Amino acid sequence: MRAAPLILGVLASGRGSNLQAILDAIDAGRCPARVAVVVSDRKDAAALDRARRTGIRAVHVDPQAHPDRVAFDDAIAGALDEHAVELVCLAGYMRLLSPGFVRRYPGRILNVHPALLPAFPGLRAQRQALEAGVRVAGATVHLVDEGVDTGPIVLQAAVPVLASDTEGTLSARILAEEHRLYPEAIRLFAEGRIEVSGRRVVVKEA
Ligand code: GRF
Repeated sequence: MRAAPLILGVLASGRGSNLQAILDAIDAGRCPARVAVVVSDRKDAAALDRARRTGIRAVHVDPQAHPDRVAFDDAIAGALDEHAVELVCLAGYMRLLSPGFVRRYPGRILNVHPALLPAFPGLRAQRQALEAGVRVAGATVHLVDEGVDTGPIVLQAAVPVLASDTEGTLSARILAEEHRLYPEAIRLFAEGRIEVSGRRVVVKEA
């Protein structure tokens, strides 16, 4: 078991409820980690405000201020490395990462996705689930590889799809599971219990 908390960098584009769930779990002693920096591509992201309120460094990296995705991702990596981030957590981060960025943090990037991957990758996964008529939906936390929502799956949780569901009600039910799973996956990572074997993640016994 490590002595020091795992140093996290969170990338978020929006409201930051998953960031909040991670912070709450850390406060409650359920997640042996520390969020050192929150980085956003959007100046107005509520996630940045949440970070500032908690005294966490909040960094806006403006995509318009960089000539291309590689330069933009380099700026993000600079902010993460400045804080010696050990695990990068994507939490509602709406941009695709460049392959170079993913290779810079091998096996050290997590993402949360509002679907039972490999079903419904990409945008508006909850709407995709409703349109496909599935009876069960859910949330996934996975390691990030160079594809879109394709990396090895760490944790998943299922929720029912109700006949009365709208995109909003289904999203809320899934979000509650995201908030539960993400801190749990970070805890497993911090405890050194995540082992990747091909496409599969093996969670080692505590
Ligand atoms: C979550 O549903 C996440 O799975 C998806 O975007 C949403 C972000 O929500 N990628 P929040 O910003 O964490 O509140």
